[in-house]
Amino acid sequence: MSAERIAIFDTTLRDGEQSPGCSMDLPEKVRMARQLETLGADIIEAGFPIASDGDYAAVEAVARECRDVTVAALCRTAEPDVRRAAAALRDAARPRIHTFVATSDIHLQFKLKKTRAEVIEMTRQAVGLARKYAAEVEFSAEDATRSDVAYLCEVLTVAIEAGASIINIPDTVGYTLPTEFSRLIRTIKERVVGDRKVVISVHCHNDLGLAVANSLAAIEAGARQVECTVNGIGERAGNASLEEIVMALKVRADQLPFITGVKTPELYASSQLLSSIIGSDVQPNKAIVGRNAFAHEAGIHQHGVISNPLCYEIMTPESVGVPTNSLVLGKHSGRHALALRYQELGYTLGPSEVDAAYERFSELADRKKRVYDQDLIALLSVNTRATDAPLPGASAAINWAVPTYT
Ligand code: KIV
Ligand code: ZN
Repeated sequence: MSAERIAIFDTTLRDGEQSPGCSMDLPEKVRMARQLETLGADIIEAGFPIASDGDYAAVEAVARECRDVTVAALCRTAEPDVRRAAAALRDAARPRIHTFVATSDIHLQFKLKKTRAEVIEMTRQAVGLARKYAAEVEFSAEDATRSDVAYLCEVLTVAIEAGASIINIPDTVGYTLPTEFSRLIRTIKERVVGDRKVVISVHCHNDLGLAVANSLAAIEAGARQVECTVNGIGERAGNASLEEIVMALKVRADQLPFITGVKTPELYASSQLLSSIIGSDVQPNKAIVGRNAFAHEAGIHQHGVISNPLCYEIMTPESVGVPTNSLVLGKHSGRHALALRYQELGYTLGPSEVDAAYERFSELADRKKRVYDQDLIALLSVNTRATDAPLPGASAAINWAVPTYT
C-alpha cells in the first residue's frame, strides 16, 4: 500500500504574521511566499484581506507571484469579508477561500453574541457565497476543541452541504491532548465525512507545547491536511511547526506511513529567511532548525558521532539543509573531537601531542564557554607543524560518511 499524501497548509504569512514581533511588509511577504513555494508547501495562506489594506495587498501580490501553489485568503463568515477575500484572490492560479466562525459556547456567548442557530445560518450563507467565487472553499470551526461535539458535527455538516471541500478543526487555544484530539478527528470522520470527498484539516496551537504531537495524532486518525508555520511562529505560544511535522513524518515513516511534498533540504533556508525577515532567531535548541540541533558537545557523544553519526543523529543535517555537522568544542569535549578539529585545521598531532594539547585545552575550556579555532592554534606547541596531510593511524577509523536512514 502506498503512503498517503498529507497536504501542508502554511499559515506563516497569516497566523504567524499576526503574532507580536512577526510583522512583515509586502516585499518581505512575497519573498517568504516564494521560498514557501520552493519548499513545496501545498497551500500558502497569504493573509486576511478584510483585516487591513496591507493584508489585502499581500494576498493579491502572492496570488500573482506564486503560480504553482494554492493561495488561500482568510475571511469571517460575513458577506463583506468573503467578497474582499475573493477580490484579493482574483488573479490566483489556484485560489482558496478560507472562511471561519467560532463554534464553542464560550465564543458564541462572549465574543460573537450569537445563538447556535445563527452561527449555523452564517456558515451556510458564507460558504455558499464563497463557492460562487472559488472552486475550493475551506471552512474552519474556530475553538473546535472546546465545542460541544454534536453541535460541531452539525456545523461541519452544514458547511459541507453548502460546498466546503476542506473542513478544518482548529485547536485555537492549544488546549487538547493527542488522545483526545485523535478521538475527535475519528468522530468527525465517521459522523460528518463518511464517504464524501472532503478533506479533514487540523490547525493546532502550542499553548501546552503539544501542537506538533496533536497534529500527528490527528493525521493518524484521518486528517489529511495540517496547518502550520515555519519556526512555529504564531499567536501566543505559536502554531505547529512545519519543519517538525514534516521531519517527524519523514524520520518515522515506519510508524507514520505518510508523505508530504516538502523538499526537506529547503527547511533550514526557509527558517533562516523567516528569522532574518522578522529579526528573531529560533531558540538554539529548537528541533530541526535550531543552532544546536546537530551540535554535539559532550565528549562521549562527539566520539560516537565521529565514529558513526547514527549514534546520536536520527536524521542528517544535509536532509534538512543544515550546511554542516558542527562539533562544539567546550569543557565537555573529549580527545577525539579535539584531534579531529586539529586535523580539520591542518595540524598533524601524534598521540602525546594530543594529550598535551588536550590538557591545555581542558584548562582553557574551564575558563571559557566556547573554545574557538584561533584558541586551539594558540594552544599548540612550537614543535607542531601545519600540514595538508591527513592524520595517520587512529584517524583512519573516523567516518564522516553520511549515514543512510531507512
Ligand atoms: O486558531 C484558529 O482558530 C485560527 C482559525 C482562523 C483557523 O487561526
Ligand atoms: Zn490559529
